[in-house]
Order: sequence, then structure tokens, then C-alpha cells
Amino acid sequence: MTRIPLNHGAGQIPALGFGTLIPDAAVTITATRDALEAGFRHFDCAERYGNEREVGRALQAGLAAGGIARQDVFVTTKLWNTNHRPERVEPAFDASLERLGLKYLDLYLIHTPFAFQPGDDQDPRDQNGNVLYDHGVTLLDTWRAMESLVDHGKCPAIGLSDVSLNELKPIYESARIKPAVVQVESHPYLPETELLGFCKEKGIVFLAFAPLGHGMKPGLLQDPVILAIAARAGKTPAQVLLAWAVQRGTALLTTPRSAARARENFDISPLPEDAFEEINRIQTRQRLNPVVRTGVPGFIPRSI
Ligand SMILES: NC(=O)c1ccc[n+]([C@@H]2O[C@H](COP(=O)([O-])OP(=O)(O)OC[C@H]3O[C@@H](n4cnc5c(N)ncnc54)[C@H](OP(=O)(O)O)[C@@H]3O)[C@@H](O)[C@H]2O)c1
Repeated sequence: MTRIPLNHGAGQIPALGFGTLIPDAAVTITATRDALEAGFRHFDCAERYGNEREVGRALQAGLAAGGIARQDVFVTTKLWNTNHRPERVEPAFDASLERLGLKYLDLYLIHTPFAFQPGDDQDPRDQNGNVLYDHGVTLLDTWRAMESLVDHGKCPAIGLSDVSLNELKPIYESARIKPAVVQVESHPYLPETELLGFCKEKGIVFLAFAPLGHGMKPGLLQDPVILAIAARAGKTPAQVLLAWAVQRGTALLTTPRSAARARENFDISPLPEDAFEEINRIQTRQRLNPVVRTGVPGFIPRSI
């Protein structure tokens, strides 16, 4: 299994990650168990997904049943937009830890660079349905509170999600503790080459979400280049897309919801160099998730 070292000696992150953005609680539990059984050792959670308790229960049961030690899995969760005020960061971290039922986290990310009005409502809106942003806190203020978590030994690694290169650079330059990971949408239709180059140069792990294009149809899983490579290599289109992501030096998150798909998505092997280059030459450009523009996630029902 490919593992990528984190900066500051904070260990290694398994390149193949399982994402837990699954609205249904029962499916969250079965899919998390299936992923663990298939071999996934990297789990991506978030306060905003509303299912940290279910993920935690599934992980604990799965670790016990499989004789797997806690230190053999890598668990991330994310600070939601309503908790950007520095005094809210540590309580939000502690609350996630409690819901997950874990003694520690391996990585904590700022979910998006957008601060929403602080409070218990995760989706604060005015009477016209417009998001209520919090202009009284900067991303750097929040980053300083994230650094304190590392200072106090609460978390070994911190990072950002849904940031552009323009947002990442000033944080990187001002940070006392540099971001270890940046999680963004990325796939052959959105290769984010410049951001990936910056991350590689600075030793930041680039963690791609939507490597299968969120499974949208028509989309990457039906792309003729991907289908042809899959047929030649005796792999499925999903395996080709995931292998491409690992081969370009990124970690990734995928969300198979059945045991068969978990095994399929974990069974990745390197692509021939010409196939890898052929995917790099795909010209289609498409961003699927609007979260980077507003801080509002594209695939979470408003009711969660
Ligand atoms: N930071 C952020 O703002 C952000 C945003 C979005 C996601 N994420 C993270 O990224 C994770 C990954 O989510 P994603 O949507 O990007 O995952 P993805 O793996 O790109 O897409 C998931 C979709 O692909 C389908 N799928 C999975 N394996 C497949 C296979 N082998 N063959 C065909 N279809 C397959 C699934 O269908 P079925 O459901 O039918 O299996 C589902 O519809 C999330 O769970 C979350 O942790 C982060």
C-alpha cells in the first residue's frame, strides 16, 4: 500500500483513503466496515457530514473484529465553517473526537476557507436563503488556533481543504506550522497541476477528492480514454482513475458503498506509462463541486 510522508515527521498517510460523506447512517456503518475489511487504512470524516458517531462505531467494531491496532489506521476529521472563530476551534476538535470515540486524530483540516456565522446552526441563512458569513475572523486567525492544537499535542498534523493556490500561499507563508495536507477536488478533468506542483515543492500532501468525478453520469467513468485504457489493462474504469491519481503522487478519497466496490477500489496497480500520459493529455475541464466558491458543500443534503 502506498504511503506518503507528512511534513514535521507526523507519520505517513496511506494514499488510498475512504471518504465518509454518506448521508445514510446505516450505510455509513456498513460501508466503513467494508472499507476496513477491503484494506483501507485511511478514513476521512467531517463534523459537517453528521455521521462521526456512526463512523467511529464502525471503526471501533472493525478494528476489534479484525485485530487491527488504532495506530494502523489514519483518521482525519474537519473543522466546520461555523467554528472558525479561534475560541471555537479546540471545542470543535474535542467534540469530533468524542463523537468518533477515538483517543486521538491523525489529521485535522479546516473544511473550507469560508467562515460562517458562529453557532450551532451549521447552515446559517438569512430570510432570503443567503448564507450568513462571518467577516470577523480571517483564515489566518483560524490557522493560528489550529497551530495551537499541534502545540498542545492534540493533533500531529493540520491542513486545509477546498482552497485555491491563491488562498494557500499566504497561509503557507505566514504559518509557523505549515499545512501537512491540502484536500481538494481533483481528477483528469480538474488536474490542478499548478496547485499540485506547489504542494510537491513544499512537501504538502495533495489529497484528491472526487477522483471518480463523484460518480456523476455522464462523466469520467464513461470517458472514452478511460474506458479504452481499462479494457487494455484488464482493469475497471474506477481502478484506472484511482491508479492515475496515485501515480501522479497524490493521495485520494473514494467512497464505495458496497463491499464489492470497496475491494475493487482498493485493488489498484500502476498503469503503463503510455496510459498514464494519455490520461494527462485529456483536454476536458470540469469542476463538479461548487464548495470552493461559496463554502456550501455540493453533495450534502441541507437537512443534515
Ligand atoms: N473537502 C470537501 O469539500 C469534500 C467534498 C466532497 C467529498 N469530500 C470527501 O471525498 C470523499 C470522496 O467522495 P467522492 O464523491 O469524491 O467519491 P468518488 O469515489 O469520486 O465518487 C463516489 C461515487 O462514485 C461511485 N463509485 C464508487 N466506486 C465506484 C466504482 N468502483 N465503480 C463505479 N462507481 C463507483 C459511487 O457510487 P455508489 O454510491 O453507487 O457506490 C458514488 O456515486 C467523500 O466521502 C468525502 O470524504 C470532500
